[in-house]
Amino acid sequence: MLGSGNGHRDWLARELPIVAEGTGKPWGVGFLTWAIDVGAVERALEHTPRAVMLSFGDPSPFAERIRQAGAALIIQVTDLEEARRAVDLGADVIVAQGVESGGHGARHGRSTLPFVPVVVDLAAPVPVLAAGGIADGRGVAAVLALGAAGALIGTRFQATTEALVAPSTAKAIVEGRGEDTERSSVLDIARGSRWPSKYTARTLGHPFLDQWRGREVELAADLQAKQAYQYGVARGEIPALPVWAGEAVDLINDLPSAADLVEALAAQAEDALARAGRR
Ligand SMILES: Cc1cc2nc3c(=O)[nH]c(=O)nc-3n(C[C@H](O)[C@H](O)[C@H](O)COP(=O)(O)O)c2cc1C
Repeated sequence: MLGSGNGHRDWLARELPIVAEGTGKPWGVGFLTWAIDVGAVERALEHTPRAVMLSFGDPSPFAERIRQAGAALIIQVTDLEEARRAVDLGADVIVAQGVESGGHGARHGRSTLPFVPVVVDLAAPVPVLAAGGIADGRGVAAVLALGAAGALIGTRFQATTEALVAPSTAKAIVEGRGEDTERSSVLDIARGSRWPSKYTARTLGHPFLDQWRGREVELAADLQAKQAYQYGVARGEIPALPVWAGEAVDLINDLPSAADLVEALAAQAEDALARAGRR
């Protein structure tokens, strides 16, 4: 999956051909639904992705166009209303995201353990992937037991050799603890990001979070504070980006290649399922 975020025209023009021409395997492209217009989806579809994933926002304006193009429609959902809408729109795969997740998600989201099986029941026979708080094969085994068809994993893959993150980010993830993570919109407001207030992001600790926690409205109106954040970033005193990390960050202790990681996740999951079966 190529994570295109807001589907910026220049970015798509640069990145889509790299993946389209660079692999004979199925690939897809993901968008932040609230941040795009139909043109971004059209431009992606010109490169015939096997799948298009829509997260965070109303997928209705894009679903039919994606299905017409023959691409699989993957919709990430954070509550039951979104799950029902995804089924109604004919999603081929639904990703049920819990609040344990790293990065953005619903401010008033659901926990992965109870949320996934409800979505599995609601969406059947549409396959459901579980997301949020899965960082090793035991987590994969757990969500398979819940009826998920698989797992969608984010935070864990930032600590792999291929990840395009700063070395300080990978180090922070390897050293981080779940209780050091926090969901907030403070850092989005500080860095001038346009994320709607319905969504918060789970990150590791940050000095700005300590300073502004609970005072988001005040921060949004405080130009000086937001400038101080920008100056801090420019002077290298504040990390250029928040460290987006989920609650399963404790389970991440090494920096493998992505291929080795996938292999290890599968082997651990098989082992965990076999052990559970013996019990
Ligand atoms: C650094 C980072 C960036 C992410 N970017 C996106 C994104 O662009 N689009 C999206 O749908 N989800 C994004 N996610 C969320 C993932 O889709 C997924 O729900 C989440 O990572 C699962 O939880 P986990 O981090 O505990 O594995 C991101 C997550 C992280 C950690």
